[in-house]
Amino acid sequence: MDVCCGTGMITKDLARKVGPRGNVVGLDLSPEMLAVAEKNLADFELKSIIQLVNGNAMALPFPDNSFDRVIIGYGLRNVTDMRQALRELYRVLKPEGKAVSLELAKPYPPIFNKLYYLYMARIVPLTGLIFTSNKEAYLYLHDSVLTYPHQYEVTHIFEQIGFEEVNCFELSWGIAAVHVGTKPYS
Ligand SMILES: C[S@@+](CC[C@H](N)C(=O)[O-])C[C@H]1O[C@@H](n2cnc3c(N)ncnc32)[C@H](O)[C@@H]1O
Repeated sequence: MDVCCGTGMITKDLARKVGPRGNVVGLDLSPEMLAVAEKNLADFELKSIIQLVNGNAMALPFPDNSFDRVIIGYGLRNVTDMRQALRELYRVLKPEGKAVSLELAKPYPPIFNKLYYLYMARIVPLTGLIFTSNKEAYLYLHDSVLTYPHQYEVTHIFEQIGFEEVNCFELSWGIAAVHVGTKPYS
């Protein structure tokens, strides 16, 4: 399942990964985003294995132990309670199943991170204003990156939820991070 699937681009990649004999669910809270996903999937060769679902990451409409893999891409930073969303990912996973989160993180090189935050605070909102007339959405991006826990803390939160073998892979000097956790047999 691709939780917080938005326009369905990761959902498509998951379908390619599992192939025609698999099943993929794309779930999002926003019917508008799902409508865009529906359009994006219209001519996709594996469309038949994808089910788009309107639902809340913090109360997933699926029974316990249903999925082999769950992924949440740029979603944990956007839900109102990331711990509750992680609890839900854990609940719907089968034992030995893996949860993956891809999210913006906090870059570590000292000078680079100052420049990055300046870029996020000034250049990105200005670009947003010029091209979309919506500065606020891009200011939100900056603020949400600052308030989202550090990637090492996210590792700790995965472990608190009950995930095992939790790994954090930092990408592009920590601009983004991928967390992977496994649900153990209880
Ligand atoms: C930044 S977008 C990421 C979309 C997609 N995963 C991607 O990488 O392109 C975040 C998405 O999370 C969705 N979202 C926010 N809160 C949610 C929730 N509680 N449950 C499900 N989806 C949610 C939004 O509607 C939005 O589509």
